[in-house]
Amino acid sequence: MKKESQNRKPLKIGVLASGAGTNLQAIINAIDSGALNAQIVCVISDMESARAMERSRKREIPTYFISGDPFQTKLAGKAEEEYLKCLEKHQVQVVALAGFMRIVKSNILKAYKNRILNIHPSLLPAFPGVESWTQALNYGVKITGCTVHLVDEGTDTGPIIIQKSVPILEDDTTESLHARIQKQEHLAYPEALQLIAEGRLSVKGRRVYVEPERS
Ligand code: GRF
Repeated sequence: MKKESQNRKPLKIGVLASGAGTNLQAIINAIDSGALNAQIVCVISDMESARAMERSRKREIPTYFISGDPFQTKLAGKAEEEYLKCLEKHQVQVVALAGFMRIVKSNILKAYKNRILNIHPSLLPAFPGVESWTQALNYGVKITGCTVHLVDEGTDTGPIIIQKSVPILEDDTTESLHARIQKQEHLAYPEALQLIAEGRLSVKGRRVYVEPERS
């Protein structure tokens, strides 16, 4: 008998990215390999030169540059409206923030309640904010990692879906540590999205529960 998940329609994902787009690429690769039952229906960037947009254009995914001006760090006002319009036009079911360097505000949060994901390069709640791998190295922790979480009103505070740990080695530099964290990110993000695609997540308060896989 076919698994229930195999009968489900591919999850429609909208990706928001500002930078290199290696997580976007990991999601694309997971879809290609069949590990993720999803379709990226649009990619939006606030950075005209983002490498992420090259990656999605290459795959003929509808790709948009939408400026976040006049704001520097948040997605608000007219820009927020335009992002929302674009996501709705493509009937996005889940929004994946993949290196999107803006804080998402209330209108999009309301429209996509518990359906916006972010990936963060530390084991939250440790080291929120920027350059978390440098923060971890400087603090002297022995283990760090990455976190996929739902996005709420705070910065890096939403309910946690998946975490993967990465040991910090004696000879680690910020570059070597960041590279090892990113390897884990590229596994964690598609895994978290697949749990949603299979309808296996439920959220109660701060806890995200994962239903066991059906055989
Ligand atoms: C990742 O390290 C992610 O944790 C953080 O931004 C970075 C994006 O990298 N939120 P990329 O653009 O996906 O390569």
